[in-house]
Amino acid sequence: MSKLGIGLAGVGRMGRIHATNLVARCARAGLACVYDADAARAKILASQLDVPVAASFDELLERSEAVAIATPTGTHAELSVTAARAGMPVFCEKPVSLDRATTVATIEAVEATGVVFQVGFHRRFDPDWVAAADRIAAGELGEVTLLRTSLRDMNPPDPAYLAGSGGFFVDVTVHDLDVARWLVGEVVEVSAHGAASDPAFAELGDIDTAVVVLRFANGALGVIDNSRGARYGYECSTEVMGTLATARIDAPHRRGLEWRTPGTASRDLVRDFEERYPHAYAAELDAFAECVRTGAPPRVTGRDALAAFDLAAAADTSWRTGRPVTLSQEVSA
Ligand SMILES: NC(=O)c1ccc[n+]([C@@H]2O[C@H](COP(=O)([O-])OP(=O)(O)OC[C@H]3O[C@@H](n4cnc5c(N)ncnc54)[C@H](O)[C@@H]3O)[C@@H](O)[C@H]2O)c1
Repeated sequence: MSKLGIGLAGVGRMGRIHATNLVARCARAGLACVYDADAARAKILASQLDVPVAASFDELLERSEAVAIATPTGTHAELSVTAARAGMPVFCEKPVSLDRATTVATIEAVEATGVVFQVGFHRRFDPDWVAAADRIAAGELGEVTLLRTSLRDMNPPDPAYLAGSGGFFVDVTVHDLDVARWLVGEVVEVSAHGAASDPAFAELGDIDTAVVVLRFANGALGVIDNSRGARYGYECSTEVMGTLATARIDAPHRRGLEWRTPGTASRDLVRDFEERYPHAYAAELDAFAECVRTGAPPRVTGRDALAAFDLAAAADTSWRTGRPVTLSQEVSA
């Protein structure tokens, strides 16, 4: 079976991971060409991976069968709609945009073209989360009573990235909010607390640490904790408690080695999302290629991305007002 030729726009932190996976790991998707607004950056990566470089987004569309968009969030909407109107299936990194109105307009414009549109919530393709989700959906956990999930970066990203990120809840918490909907169901109430332990975040009007409490429509409760700078390593862990069983996904270690000294055992930890997800980022692009081939709907749709965005916006509103937000209320971010 020939691989779907994906043109990749944006070869920064996330784009490089997609590029490498498309060249080396994916079975159904390949890298047709790369394009970046920083032409020198695109050229260096293209020569490292021995793939063509496009001089513009239009040229990328001409050279590709589908596109993957890993540019800053504020550019996703325009690139997604341009690609979709050119008949290209679109894989778009999360979130779809920085505000609700643009997110809705983008989803509607892309849906009107009929192309496949998948958003980059990679945990839905990670073997650990998929196994847990399948068993929860099959009823093996019984009634879900509690979700606990953590996403903590080891070190904060570049300040330039933060300025265009959409803020903590839209950029970071949105991953856990998508997982919450996927594993437990719809959320009816969100309460959030945030803090900026690093003054650089406060200067941007942003935070680097947050706790979010969720109430689900089925009566379950959820708690999310997130950090931009946990310092000890990258942690992404989830626990779902039910009346019959509890599923727990812990942060894996880099190596099997444990070093023991009297009274202490030490293990190394993964440092970032690239190390934590050797399979998920490749699997999401292979799944996207399979949807393009078969016409099946993607596992993560634009509507899922909008629902996660609404929850992130609710968390943002709750943090700013100090009050819980019910999801029937208007949210603004
Ligand atoms: N799914 C995940 O786990 C995950 C992780 C990190 C980032 N992301 C998402 O990926 C996106 C990119 O994040 P990043 O950390 O890689 O950012 P980055 O700043 O490291 O890289 C962005 C790249 O896009 C290029 N660029 C900017 N405007 C462009 C345009 N109009 N056309 C083409 N190229 C353009 C920049 O030159 C840069 O190389 C963000 O939307 C972010 O939310 C997702």
